[in-house]
Amino acid sequence: MSDYTNGGVIILDFGSQYTQLIARKIRELNVFSRILSHDATLNDIMAYKPKAIILSGGPSSVYKQNAPEYDNDILTVDIPILGICYGLHILAQHSGGSVKSTGQGEYGYAKISITKNTEFLQSDLNGSQVWMSHMDQVIKVPDSWSIIAESSNGVVAAMASGDLNRLATQFHPEVSHTEYGKKMLENFLFKIASCNANWTPDNFIDQQVDLIRKEVGNSNVLIGVSGGVDSSVVAAIMNRAIGDKAKSVLIDHGLMRKNEALDCIHALKDGLGVNIHLEDESDNFLEQLSHITDPEQKRKIIGNQFIYSFESIASRFDNMEYLAQGTLYPDVIESGIGHGKASHVIKSHHNVGGLPKNMKFKLIEPLRELFKDEVRKVGKELGLPDKLINRHPFPGPGLGVRIIGEITSERIAILQEADKIYIDMLESEGLYDEIWQAFAVLIPVQTVGVMGDQRTYENLLGLRAVTSTDGMTADWYRMPPDVLSKISNRIVNSVKGINRVTYDITSKPPGTIEWE
Ligand code: XMP
Repeated sequence: MSDYTNGGVIILDFGSQYTQLIARKIRELNVFSRILSHDATLNDIMAYKPKAIILSGGPSSVYKQNAPEYDNDILTVDIPILGICYGLHILAQHSGGSVKSTGQGEYGYAKISITKNTEFLQSDLNGSQVWMSHMDQVIKVPDSWSIIAESSNGVVAAMASGDLNRLATQFHPEVSHTEYGKKMLENFLFKIASCNANWTPDNFIDQQVDLIRKEVGNSNVLIGVSGGVDSSVVAAIMNRAIGDKAKSVLIDHGLMRKNEALDCIHALKDGLGVNIHLEDESDNFLEQLSHITDPEQKRKIIGNQFIYSFESIASRFDNMEYLAQGTLYPDVIESGIGHGKASHVIKSHHNVGGLPKNMKFKLIEPLRELFKDEVRKVGKELGLPDKLINRHPFPGPGLGVRIIGEITSERIAILQEADKIYIDMLESEGLYDEIWQAFAVLIPVQTVGVMGDQRTYENLLGLRAVTSTDGMTADWYRMPPDVLSKISNRIVNSVKGINRVTYDITSKPPGTIEWE
C-alpha cells in the first residue's frame, strides 16, 4: 500500500469558480489533489509532500492593491508549478513580466497556435479549442520565459520558463470545453512533474482501514446511517476496519420512503455483514408532528427528536468514544477547515454539529477527502449494491417536507405508495440516472375526478424531477410526455387517495428543489 497523499498536487485557491474542478480533474487521473488557500505557507504545502503545485484562476487583478498573493517561498523549491489564468498573471508579475487589462476580454471559445513544442503542449494540439475567461492579459513575458501558445485573438495563451519547471495558461485546461484539457493536465502531471498515480479506491480503503484501526484501538464507534450512500459507505469502511466494534444505527423516523430502511439494512447487514440495528422511533416523531403544518416547525421538531433519539441510543453502549460520519470534501472546503493548514483525516475531540453540546465524541470522518463521485467508486469497491450507491439525495426530514400541511400516518402511506411507483417507473424507463433528484409531493388540495361512473374527490400529487450538479441550482427535468402519462395513469389507478397528478416545471432559483 502506498500513501496516496504523497506525490500529489497542491492547488492554491485564488477564488476561481473552477478550483474544485481542477481538483477533480487531477483525481480522475488517479493523482491525489488538495486545495489550500492561496496564502498557505510553504510549510503547509510541503506537509503533503506534493510533486506539483497548481495556482488557480481568480476574480482579482494582480496589479491592484490587496490582490491575493502566494507565499513567495514556493518559488524557491524545485517543484513544478502550473499557473492557470490568475495563476498565469501572478507568475508573470513575480518573474519580471507585466500584466494589464487592454479593455477587451476574451470569454468563451478560442483556438490556440502552438508557437513552441513542449512536453506540456505538443505541436499536435495546434489549432485546438480552449476555453477563455479573462479581462487581464500578459503584455510582457518574463525574460527567461517564452510564449508556447497564442490564442486566435493574439493573446498569450500559454508560456513556460526556460527549464519548463514553471508553466502557465491563460485558458482553463480543467473545463471540458478545452478540447485537450485533460491531455494537457496529464502531460503536466506525468511528463513534467512525475506525480504518483496512487489515488485509487482500493488504495484509499486500505489506507483508511489502517488509520482507523490505529486511531480507535479497543473503543467502540457509533455510526448514524441515514439510508443514503455517504453514511452507508462509512458503515461499510468501519465494518471492514474494526468489525463489530463499529455499531451502526439507522433511526427510522417514520418519514422514509417505502422499504427504504429495510433495503438499506438488508444491503449492509446481509450483503456485507455490517453490524447495524434499525431503531424504530417513528411513534416519537409522529406524535410530536401531529397537527403541525408550518415547515420550519416541522424541521425543528424532526431535528430535535433526532438528537433525543440518537442520545438515548448512544447511552445504551459502553466504551463508545467515537462517532463516525459521512462528511465529504466539499463540506470541508466550504467550512474553511481544509484551507490553509494540513488537516488530518481523523480529528479528535470535536463537538459534533447538530448533536447536544454535552455529548462528547471523538469524530471520525473517513470520507472527508472525497467528492461524491469518488464516494460512489469507493462504495462499489466495498461491494455496496448499485441501487444504494446511485440513490438520489434525500433530505434529513424525509417525507416530512414533502407532505405539505398536516402529517398523518394515512398521508405518509399515500405518499410512500405514489413515490415508489414514480421512482420504480423512472428506473424501468431507464431515466433514473439521468435525473439528479426525483420525488413526489402530497399537496393538501382535493379535486374532483371521475373513475368508472363514480365521482371522486381526492388528493392532488406533485411530481418533481431536477437536473443539477450540486443541488445549489437546478433545472426541471424535461421528462418525455409519454413517460409522464404512464406514470400519472399508474399512480391514479393504483394509489387510493390520489385522483390527479401535476408535474413541477420550476427551476432553482427561483424555486427550491423541495417544496418546503
Ligand atoms: P432545496 O430544497 O434547498 O434542496 O433546494 C437542496 C438539496 O438539499 C436537500 N435538502 C435537505 N437535506 N436536510 C437535508 O439533509 C434538510 O433539511 C434539507 N432540505 C433540503 C434537498 O433534498 C436537495 O437535495
